[in-house]
Amino acid sequence: MFLDIHSHMLPGVDDGCVNLSESIRCVRTLMDHGFGGTVCTSHMCVAELPTITPSFVHEQATLLRQALRREGLDYQIFTGGEVRLQPLTVSWFQQHGVPSLGDGRCVLVDTWSHWEDYCDEAIDYLEDNGYQPILAHPERMPIDEAEWHRLIDDLSERGVWLQGNLKPIGGRDMPGLQERALRLLDEGRYKVIALDMHRPKGLAERLVGLDVIRDRFGEDLLSKLLADAPAEIIAPAAESHR
Ligand SMILES: [Fe+2]
Repeated sequence: MFLDIHSHMLPGVDDGCVNLSESIRCVRTLMDHGFGGTVCTSHMCVAELPTITPSFVHEQATLLRQALRREGLDYQIFTGGEVRLQPLTVSWFQQHGVPSLGDGRCVLVDTWSHWEDYCDEAIDYLEDNGYQPILAHPERMPIDEAEWHRLIDDLSERGVWLQGNLKPIGGRDMPGLQERALRLLDEGRYKVIALDMHRPKGLAERLVGLDVIRDRFGEDLLSKLLADAPAEIIAPAAESHR
């Protein structure tokens, strides 16, 4: 069973599914493609989305689980967050708690700028407190190639895990991103891959990435990155990496 650790499936919470009907459509499509569960990683941005906190995501996930049960859908829903690295991220963690993925100690973060000092502060805070940071879709960072290569090396060296997105892997994202993604796959740099799905209309172009990995690297790597690694990530810490 595949497990998607990066998803905006919760209805009406962020820029993902706008209502329950869209969430249910996504679940049905995912089940058709071999998925058995999703970690709901709503965007968490200190300034722009102040109401999306770990406790809010837990409440919304409970409602989604109940709705799926009513529909007779046997599909697992886990909680998490996609935390935007910002200057106040550490104080936000201290105020609201750290949105780890499932029952584990991994935390999904993203950034859309150059790697600033506050990014290091947040990573240090997580690592110092026993969490495993995972950087979402590093292939999508809007920085030049030389800076990007240096950053990937630095992050790998300091133990940050990398999560690749299936849309660029499948060649359906911005020009140049597939090249980056395939290189990271080829070099074994990704700990895990994910859909980063938002709404039903964008799901098909993300699922294309499954076939690209199958064709280029084989079913074993797909299982490792989309089943084994996610299972490890959402597991209780004592049974996972620490
Ligand atoms: Fe995302």
